[in-house]
Amino acid sequence: MNAPQKRLRSVVAGIGSYLPERCVDNVELARMVDTSDDWIVQRTGIRTRHIAAEGETTSMLATKAAEQALANAGLTAADIDLIILATATPDYTFPATATLVQAALGMTHGVAFDLQAVCSGFVFAVSTADKFLISGSHKRALVIGAETFSRILDWKDRTTCVLFGDGAGAIILEAQEGEGTLADRGVLTSHLRSDGRHREKLFVDGGPSTTQTVGHLRMAGREVFRHAVGMVTDVMIDAFAATGTSAEDLDWFVPHQANERIIDASAEKLGIAAQKIVKTVSMHGNTSAASIPLALAAACADGRIQKGHLVMIEAMGGGFTWGSALIRW
Ligand code: UT7
Repeated sequence: MNAPQKRLRSVVAGIGSYLPERCVDNVELARMVDTSDDWIVQRTGIRTRHIAAEGETTSMLATKAAEQALANAGLTAADIDLIILATATPDYTFPATATLVQAALGMTHGVAFDLQAVCSGFVFAVSTADKFLISGSHKRALVIGAETFSRILDWKDRTTCVLFGDGAGAIILEAQEGEGTLADRGVLTSHLRSDGRHREKLFVDGGPSTTQTVGHLRMAGREVFRHAVGMVTDVMIDAFAATGTSAEDLDWFVPHQANERIIDASAEKLGIAAQKIVKTVSMHGNTSAASIPLALAAACADGRIQKGHLVMIEAMGGGFTWGSALIRW
């Protein structure tokens, strides 16, 4: 067998998150649409979600999460040369929200751009940043997931408005030389997929080139549910196969937080023990691209995720898009 070769790895150097102040529970929603706390909890596990204040934008949430990640890493914006911001709710059609964050951080060097893969956005952004860092072209990336989904919800549609929330999370990935083994810290593998045939199951019915409006989120929830478990478990199996690992090797499973039933069914299908699952869906609802970094930040803050732990992230969303990444923290 060949000896492992030293190689660059994208290592997590810091993490941060931000939630808008206003927290809305199911009882408050039941005053707006024909729903109930019981229905929402039983079908989704969601109890509360945060909603951005008037004038509070995606870039503002993202900047707060980024500042916290920088402080957590003991770095400043001067140390970052790449910002990738995953969002489906940008401040403007253009410029990219990432450039607004870049300016807010006082950064005039490096490059910042947005990435659009809806709920899978953070996994896509981690995978993209990893490819920049291991190529040697960039040294330290701020990878952000930030959303104000409250702005694209139809607040009269009970089938969607009860499911989503606003928030932002960020990690810093730093290129470091590893031994080329599974013991290396950093992103060990990532697997991205999409299939555009599913557009009409989850989409926004507006946009600059079609209606010249922002539009509202539309979802055939049952249809999305039907595909979700199979898609996310497929890409996790890809991650296990690429690294020669299995569910038993995981310390933490940090899935996209859309629905507790999808999370539990995915874990059960792959034999991931219930106590290894990080869940924030009850408190945050589905925050799309922000959901995984918000969950990672919660599990780091309370000491569950520790340096050296093996962490699986996965998501599925509009497009459809779906993906996984295995990270040695
Ligand atoms: O992050 C991107 C990926 N998105 C997702 O993963 C979402 C995937 N889908 C889901 O999580 C679930 O399908 C939902 C939570 C959206 C819905 O749960 P479900 O068990 O699939 O319910 P359903 O759509 O089959 O609806 C069941 C019933 C319907 O009534 P009838 O037709 O049986 O009389 C709905 O009209 O529940 C009704 N309903 C509601 N009732 C009270 C739908 N929304 C509500 C509501 N409150 N908010």
